[in-house]
Amino acid sequence: MKPNNDLESNSDRPRGFWSDNIAGVSPEVIAAVAACNAGQALPYGNDDLTRSLERRFADVFEHEVDVYLVSTGSAANGLALAAVTPPWGSVLSHADAHINRDECGAPEFYTAGAKLIQLPGKAAKIDLDALTVNATRMVGDVHSVQPSSVSITQATEVGSVYTLDEIGAISAICQSAKLALHMDGARFANALVALGCSPAQMTWKAGVDLVSFGATKNGTLGVDAVVSFRKDIASALAFRRKRAGQLSSKMRFMSAQMHAYLQDGLWLHNAAHANDMAKALARGLASIPGVEIQQVPEANILFCRLPMRLIRGLIDMGFGFYHDRWEPGIVRFVTSFSTTAEDVAELKRAAFDLVDSAGAISGVEV
Ligand SMILES: Cc1ncc(COP(=O)(O)O)c(C=O)c1O
Repeated sequence: MKPNNDLESNSDRPRGFWSDNIAGVSPEVIAAVAACNAGQALPYGNDDLTRSLERRFADVFEHEVDVYLVSTGSAANGLALAAVTPPWGSVLSHADAHINRDECGAPEFYTAGAKLIQLPGKAAKIDLDALTVNATRMVGDVHSVQPSSVSITQATEVGSVYTLDEIGAISAICQSAKLALHMDGARFANALVALGCSPAQMTWKAGVDLVSFGATKNGTLGVDAVVSFRKDIASALAFRRKRAGQLSSKMRFMSAQMHAYLQDGLWLHNAAHANDMAKALARGLASIPGVEIQQVPEANILFCRLPMRLIRGLIDMGFGFYHDRWEPGIVRFVTSFSTTAEDVAELKRAAFDLVDSAGAISGVEV
């Protein structure tokens, strides 16, 4: 059986809210890739663009860093977790974490078999009591995996954002139990602008050891990074990346994307726009009878409950979004830097047209 990767759409030009990675690429990033196409450059990261990238990240984070560019967020997560979790260790994360639900076992693969421990918590954020209990569970018992790291997703899979205090509280538990703290920042910029703080405040100042720094969902063509604040894992990460087939020979093209992404605040501008669009969508849908907003979006993801017939109606009109991954009626809308106010208005108008004032769906087969 072929793995299912299909998206449901009834239009040649779907108006998509499936994910932020259905967006194109920021023109500045395309221009930077084109610009570095002239002439030759040394391979495997020995080119000037890659060499200068670490300095650029150090400036962004106000801290010395080691940066490892990779082609996907799953690779960044797997490599980062492997660097701080032995095969007999465990990674503590929220049950809804991407590493747990959506990476096809990549963290287990990269760590050579470490166990993922699923923790509960509201709004996809790890519950502190559950973390405290599990952080020291069976430590020293040779029959049990050893707690080694904690992974938090910022922004979370439901569009919520950990506050600095919440990250600090998790980090305090990590420090007392000697666990590494990893941040899955596939939507790092979205969380950052939502909090209005600095990258340093959201990471190492709050006790984060290493970050999967996402860029692909927010304007690049295809590059994410592992950013580590810990010197002791740097050389292991370099070897791990090569062994994982993630050391790109023409790395200058990845580095060019990342430079352009970080240049003149493009990453923050893109993320702020995506977040604004999610908020506008939430406001628009909240006024429609029968629609229930599950979680007010702090970043660029919106979960709602919609009448089933409204879901079908929207899909029939060519709108695209995930709706069959959770309980019936639960829908996820994701906005991106390329979502326009008109896209949002169209969806809202369409939903209004499908719902009459009494909340019944008109013109759609039951
Ligand atoms: C929270 C989170 N982490 C990581 C990823 C990385 O995904 P990919 O391997 O598709 O780049 C995603 C993508 O959907 C995500 O939503």
